[in-house]
Amino acid sequence: METKSLITFILYLISTLLILVFDSVASIEGFGENYDTASLKRSSFPKDFIFGTSSSAYQYEGATNKGGRGPSIWDTFTQKYPKKIKDQSNGQIAVDSYHRFKEDVQIMNDIGFDAYRFSISWSRLLPGGNLSSGINTRAIIYYDNLINELISKGLKPFVTLLHYDHPQSIEDAYGGFLSPKVVKDFTDYAEVCFKAFGDRVKYWITINGPSIFSQQGYTNGIYAPGRCSNWLQLNCTGGDSATEPYLVSHHQLLAHAAAVKVYRQKYQKTQNGQIGLVQAVDWTIPLSQSSADIDATFRARAFKLDWTMEPLNSGSYPLEMVHYLGERLPKFSKEQSDMVKNSFDFIGINYYSTTYAADAECPRKNKSYLTDLCAELTYERDGIPIGPRAASEWIYIYPQGIEEVLLYFKPLLKNNFFTTHILRRFLRTVLECALMAFL
Ligand SMILES: *[C@@H]1O[C@H](CO)[C@@H](O)[C@H](O)[C@H]1NC(C)=O
Ligand SMILES: *[C@@H]1O[C@H](CO)[C@@H](O)[C@H](O)[C@H]1NC(C)=O
Ligand SMILES: *[C@@H]1O[C@H](CO)[C@@H](O)[C@H](O)[C@H]1NC(C)=O
Repeated sequence: METKSLITFILYLISTLLILVFDSVASIEGFGENYDTASLKRSSFPKDFIFGTSSSAYQYEGATNKGGRGPSIWDTFTQKYPKKIKDQSNGQIAVDSYHRFKEDVQIMNDIGFDAYRFSISWSRLLPGGNLSSGINTRAIIYYDNLINELISKGLKPFVTLLHYDHPQSIEDAYGGFLSPKVVKDFTDYAEVCFKAFGDRVKYWITINGPSIFSQQGYTNGIYAPGRCSNWLQLNCTGGDSATEPYLVSHHQLLAHAAAVKVYRQKYQKTQNGQIGLVQAVDWTIPLSQSSADIDATFRARAFKLDWTMEPLNSGSYPLEMVHYLGERLPKFSKEQSDMVKNSFDFIGINYYSTTYAADAECPRKNKSYLTDLCAELTYERDGIPIGPRAASEWIYIYPQGIEEVLLYFKPLLKNNFFTTHILRRFLRTVLECALMAFL
């Protein structure tokens, strides 16, 4: 597969979006710009534009103790730190999609979606985490039924293999993504999925948001497995915010690339699908036009975006990170570098928001991934937010950001100008929709 297409799965095109579009909301007051959406229709998009919605296993399936599923790190995390969850809830029932998937698929069909992106629960499929402890056949039946139901309603399945929820058993056995051992177990798990579902699944996403997982799970401990340095006093289960995030991203990249290699060598020719990963991103712009703030912005982009994108592009980490981090940044062997480089047919973008970056001193002690940026990131300038705040505290609407991110990633597309061009043409429309979905 040589054509690299930067597919934007606008995961934010939640159901509200299309309802809003079809209701023809007259216009939305944006920040300094009027988003006139009255003329927006499905036919404003190209024929092959895929509208869809997306979910993750732990947030949707429920049935955490049913059907032979083993615990994932999110079960442990929500049980151990209920206060780290806003309403102290957990995923034991969630929206019960394990039992109600037919109803869910029908709703997607009624809305008029073309696709559904869901994630497979690794610990449902392999309750012991690895292949030698056995495949849960009830999980195979569940995902088979879900996939068949989607296809029967004309919805394309986009399948994520890992959405932050690796099995607790591998966390206990060797620290999960802190250990290179995860590469083999993840690859085995991925292969079980290709074998079982690849006849019908044509879009595979290995890992969702690798840098978010490293940041939230290992820098400030607000996601499972809840690790961070003691000095942060964030009630973590051990950890080192100055080294673990880098190790965890490294192993995610290796696990991703190894799974892609297996897919390409053994399945892609016959199954004829595409494989990539999804980056969850924020864009960054300078707080002021001072050269210090502009440099801080470049550092923030390097540490947040290039961290996991540059290895996919060139097989190495961005130079800013190599120089600043020294021994704290793991190294790729020649063989690993070759495996990681170009290990994608597409890159999905989850775009959320944009922050301002201001220069900040690099701390000499108490280092962490977040202070390694030597930048202060904020959603405000002179007390004015960068855009209207959405329902989440960390989402301020800044639709231009997704266009900036795509242009930033453009070198990855190499000479595939056509794709980029097409993308830009429709971006405006997508931005308007995304904006509406948030409001
Ligand atoms: C597989 O996992 C089981 C339990 O989760 C463990 O006892 C066993 O050592 C693991 N096997 C390998 C080959 O890692
Ligand atoms: C490191 O963090 C601890 C705990 O928050 C604090 O007491 C200490 O002063 C910090 N050290 C430095 C050099 O910032
Ligand atoms: C820290 O976590 C423990 C449970 O692991 C909990 O009992 C305690 O209340 C938490 N402390 C704070 C300050 O949140």
